[in-house]
Amino acid sequence: NLPKSVRLVEVGPRDGLQNEKQPISVADKVRLVDDLTVAGLSYIEVGSFVSPKWVPQMAGSAEVFTGIQRSAGVTYAALTPNLKGLEAALDAKVEEVAVFAAASEAFSQKNINCSIADSLQRFVPLMEAAKAANVRVRGYVSCVLGCPYDGEIAPQQVASVARELYAMGCYEVSLGDTIGTGTAGKTRALLEVVGHDIPRERLAGHFHDTYGQALANIYASLLEGISVFDSSVAGLGGCPYAKGATGNVATEDVLYLLQGLGIETGVDMHKLIAAGQRICEVLGKANGSRVARALLSR
Ligand code: HMG
Ligand code: MG
Repeated sequence: NLPKSVRLVEVGPRDGLQNEKQPISVADKVRLVDDLTVAGLSYIEVGSFVSPKWVPQMAGSAEVFTGIQRSAGVTYAALTPNLKGLEAALDAKVEEVAVFAAASEAFSQKNINCSIADSLQRFVPLMEAAKAANVRVRGYVSCVLGCPYDGEIAPQQVASVARELYAMGCYEVSLGDTIGTGTAGKTRALLEVVGHDIPRERLAGHFHDTYGQALANIYASLLEGISVFDSSVAGLGGCPYAKGATGNVATEDVLYLLQGLGIETGVDMHKLIAAGQRICEVLGKANGSRVARALLSR
């Protein structure tokens, strides 16, 4: 029983670019977001309001929000780790934000410099302020299928963090395979546990393709009733606090999978590929999407 439609959450401008060492101009970031809007993505994570000392590449996020052409019906979102980040996001007229916690203590410390419990506490005032401003909050859990420091992560540990995010008001919880070590079997087992506590239509899959398993994991998730997936155009990215992690699964590749299953997304393949090619040229990088490479070489 596959879903008839899937919502793709495009995280390229944020997860895709956050780890780039070379400076990328605000104009190039704006162009990427605008190209993605034109390609038909209905949800675009534009940037992060995090400490510029921790993630220098996201420092210009407010300017990017000022520069983009917002289209009706498209959500332009940003990551916010604390109240300070939320306030900056509200100043930039961000319509939706995301908080991010981890299923692993070590990753929580490396990524946001606090324990899991402290991070959840930190989100409470953020959630209240977001609610007062009428801004929806999405929640992320990282390291759901493995941690670069702690190794194996128990599904129950993921479920407990996901439950807390959901209970504090996150309308959707995205489960992040930050280092891409998950497999289809483990993905199904995880979703069975987490899906016990949270309705499946409130869960999203966020797969990095480090081990080449992301599409298999997405298919496994579809079979488990998940219909929201995070992906990154041209497979851009990697997490600054997860050594060796490659980019998210490429949006083009997910789209090809979904088209083959007759699942609607509203995204135009050719415009999406054009968006990916342009940013790859800016970065001087090969396109990380297999589908883009194949279609471009025809
Ligand atoms: P800290 O050093 O413990 O925080 O960092 P602090 O409160 O002591 O503040 C330190 C400095 O940062 C201060 O400045 C603050 O003002 C400033 P100073 O006085 O030293 O000049 N600061 C801020 N500046 C701008 N915006 C803010 C902000 N907050 C504090 N919001 C903190 C704690 C959480 C801030 C830091 O660790 C941080 O910013 N971490 C972000 C890490 C990050 O963005 N990681 C990547 C995103 S997560 C990810 O990629 C995974 C995901 O894709 C899912 C998956 O794949 O699994 C989502
Ligand atoms: Mg990620």
